[in-house]
Amino acid sequence: MISFKNVRKITTHVLQEMKLKGEKIAMLTAYDFSMAKILDNTGIDIILVGDSASNVMAGHETTLPITLDQMIYHAASVVRAVDRALVVVDLPFGTYQGDSKEALISAIRIMKESGASAVKLEGGSEIAESVERILSAGIPVMGHLGLTPQSIYKFGTYSVRATTEKEAEALKKDALLLEKAGCFGIVLEKIPAKLAAEVSASLKIPTIGIGAGSGVDGQVLVLHDVLGINQEFSPRFLRRYHNLFAEISGAVNNYIHDVKNEDFPNEREQY
Ligand code: KIV
Repeated sequence: MISFKNVRKITTHVLQEMKLKGEKIAMLTAYDFSMAKILDNTGIDIILVGDSASNVMAGHETTLPITLDQMIYHAASVVRAVDRALVVVDLPFGTYQGDSKEALISAIRIMKESGASAVKLEGGSEIAESVERILSAGIPVMGHLGLTPQSIYKFGTYSVRATTEKEAEALKKDALLLEKAGCFGIVLEKIPAKLAAEVSASLKIPTIGIGAGSGVDGQVLVLHDVLGINQEFSPRFLRRYHNLFAEISGAVNNYIHDVKNEDFPNEREQY
């Protein structure tokens, strides 16, 4: 298999080639310069400036409160750190759903003020006009189907989506609609693995799964969950690769101990 590890810059075309060649796409979230710098150095393919920043950075219960200005602040910080990865930014709740002209203005602000390479929108047929309008301005769009956290109050739970035949058919139709409109990829969140594999096989554009099994073209997780910074969130689909909560707590406890015991700073650590 050809490896895309040495590609200088990941573009939407590179992602398309990765799907064609069968190389899985690795995507993680980041919201600030320092973390984005680490991620980009690892060779991650896509960095998502997700509206999950509302939860993990700002402490809100849902993704709804984060504003366009706040997303632009996070996205610009990430873009300043990144040389290789494709930076995709979530359009936050209330900036694209009702009015396609407003959707285009929101997407243009993200592209102009952050320097990101693409935007992501949640939903299918109900936001088709917004997707088309943004694409017509030459802005790459990523779709997001299945569990769409911005609609949490419509559904009331974060349970698995598209479990009935009717919902599965609607999701398949939406995926085809987004591909036809010109989206370069689609995030499939928390849907049955069999359905996700079927959708992925039916599309030419890559699908990126979160809680959608292994039959998709790539995977995405929230960085704070992967690193174990966030301890409260433990869904079945999450694999934690580190316990940074414990590591940071240990380091800070050592610092407190050294300060209290007048061990820090020592002779060599002062002027
Ligand atoms: O906001 C986010 O982090 C996301 C991912 C969970 C896909 O949309």
